[in-house]
Amino acid sequence: MATVLALETSCDETSVAVVRDRTVLSNVVSSQIKTHQPYGGVVPEMASRQHVENLNWVLARALEEAALDWDGIDGVAATCAPGLVGALLVGLTAGKTLALLHNKPFLGVHHLEGHIYASYLSSPDLFPPFLCLLVSGGHTSLIYVKDCGDYQTLGETRDDAAGEAFDKVARLMDLGYPGGPIIDKLAKEGDPHAFRLPEGQVSLPEGGYHPYDSSFSGLKTAVLRLTQKLRAEQQELPIQDLAASFQDAVARALTKRAIACALDYGLDTIAIGGGVAANSGLRQHLQAAAETHNLRVLFPPLKFCTDNAAMIACAAAEHLNRGHVSPLTLGVRSRMPLTEVMQLYQEAS
Ligand code: KG4
Ligand code: ZN
Repeated sequence: MATVLALETSCDETSVAVVRDRTVLSNVVSSQIKTHQPYGGVVPEMASRQHVENLNWVLARALEEAALDWDGIDGVAATCAPGLVGALLVGLTAGKTLALLHNKPFLGVHHLEGHIYASYLSSPDLFPPFLCLLVSGGHTSLIYVKDCGDYQTLGETRDDAAGEAFDKVARLMDLGYPGGPIIDKLAKEGDPHAFRLPEGQVSLPEGGYHPYDSSFSGLKTAVLRLTQKLRAEQQELPIQDLAASFQDAVARALTKRAIACALDYGLDTIAIGGGVAANSGLRQHLQAAAETHNLRVLFPPLKFCTDNAAMIACAAAEHLNRGHVSPLTLGVRSRMPLTEVMQLYQEAS
């Protein structure tokens, strides 16, 4: 059993958590959404500065809520890739310093491996192999989870990530930021069949479509054209119907690919991760399709879907249990494929 204190600062959430294997002892998250809202997106320099300002009190509160002192902590972890370089550096530097100061092993964690581990926090009976549908502001991936540190990406987006598409479509309808929750709320009052929008197929050179990859730029352009046409006709935008139709197209696209992937690879469980996992349309579509095909689908609670340090600590605890530790020379990387996760570790001496 390993008790890990982890720091997550890869984007606009400052978070520190203490996790014992799959049990969350504390998970403090300070969101910067209000800071970035006026700019319609995350401003990297402001994100780094806010992480510096907030990290100390978030850390103090996480330790206090866990009711542990440093003797009870077996290792310190921090997200080191992928993400905003300046933001990642704040958490990584703090994590390495704490590890050195308290003489604990240090572990760098891949942010997407963290999102995969979010499912373990609420499902103690979940073990590989399974399929992870990771849908966030930066990623839309179908990942075959074979073991801790052993992942194969089977499908990806060719352009915008699902969350990015929600944010961009919300912006072009002047709805505010972040767009996902706003569209989700409006969609509840709209007709998903009001507008027939493209689902975003990725063509193959030999004809036909890629079964697991998605593309959201065509869908975004279709909404743009529709709003331009309606505005030119001086019509009021039917934002509820537009939101519902757009959300339905995204949910259909993701569900179709996830189900095809699970069936083709003989995986009976689909675990969802990332901020878009909160989407009610996606949940409904996926749940219904999974029941039809006799598959199990796991939606972690919202607090573990969006960025948080508990998922990072959970991934680190599993690595620590296997004797994996990172060197204190570890740096940050803005991009890093999941297949390279094991490069972050060496066997503990
Ligand atoms: O995982 P996350 O918190 O951050 C990273 O990108 O890593 O995901 C944030 C994304 C944003 O694009 C946001 O608009 C989207 O998740 N999101 C949603 C919903 N809640 C958050 N998208 C659709 N429906 C939602 N209810
Ligand atoms: Zn994330």
